[in-house]
Amino acid sequence: MLTTAEIVRRAYHKGRAVPGFNIPYLPMMAPVVRALRDTECFGLIMVARLEWEKFKSGSPRAIRDEYERVKDERYTRLHLDHVPVIDEDNLRVDYLKILREAVELGYQSVMVDGSRLPLAENIAVTREVVQMAHAKGVPVEAELGAVMGHEAGPLPPYEELFKSGKGFTDPAEATRFVKETGVDWLSVAVGSVHGAISAATRGQKKVTARLSLDHLAKLRAATGIPLVLHGGTGIAKEYVLAGMKQGIAKINIATAIRQPYEALMEKDPQAALQAVYEATRAQICDELELAGTAKELLG
Ligand code: 13P
Repeated sequence: MLTTAEIVRRAYHKGRAVPGFNIPYLPMMAPVVRALRDTECFGLIMVARLEWEKFKSGSPRAIRDEYERVKDERYTRLHLDHVPVIDEDNLRVDYLKILREAVELGYQSVMVDGSRLPLAENIAVTREVVQMAHAKGVPVEAELGAVMGHEAGPLPPYEELFKSGKGFTDPAEATRFVKETGVDWLSVAVGSVHGAISAATRGQKKVTARLSLDHLAKLRAATGIPLVLHGGTGIAKEYVLAGMKQGIAKINIATAIRQPYEALMEKDPQAALQAVYEATRAQICDELELAGTAKELLG
């Protein structure tokens, strides 16, 4: 079976991307897998720590068990998204324990998010996780720069954020980070923002984000490894498609499939599952134009 590392590498070299879909509620997983199969798109099933802490995905083990039940390895692999070292509430997390457990459980790639740490600490933490995961053949994603949105409280106005480039990943730091950590994929900040996750704001529509393609080109040259786009919901389409030509080989999608589910989950659970299926299909076919990639990437 092809590893996720190899599949993402192929996507990177072909100017394509692997979408990753977050699962904040366990029942969402089956319709996401079905949408990937029906569109013949290769994608990742993902869970982030905040989705078992603040939503209803249960635990890394519960997600793994549901994955074993519904997976289709012609189209899917399992990824552990955001395990922060300092979380969105500014609390320290026992990240290594969670990541070790995930590797033991059979997650096929993992992310450690040290982006709230100073550079040297982010490097040290990421290097430690890379050593642990690579010993078991598991690729690692890390983050450098600030993809905002998960924190409580209002975001600065988007235009201000974008024009100032505040929090954008620094290319010289990225070169050093990749060299000193041996990380496989790097999540970069180039204009995207995460969907809000606080209970009060999680239903809100996201701003339409853009990407600084010039900045992305610099990061591509500075790193030479697959780049990851977080905050994949609601970015103007032309930027996402251009981003894939500039090194973005993995795109994380959460809000676009979570909000349609949440809108219906209590009133009509069956309709909620159908809404997830349709939203996932729409992302694959219309927003990302990635239908049919399984053949290209795994064939
Ligand atoms: P969105 O909620 O904007 O789709 O972002 C998802 C994400 O980046 C998860 O890591």
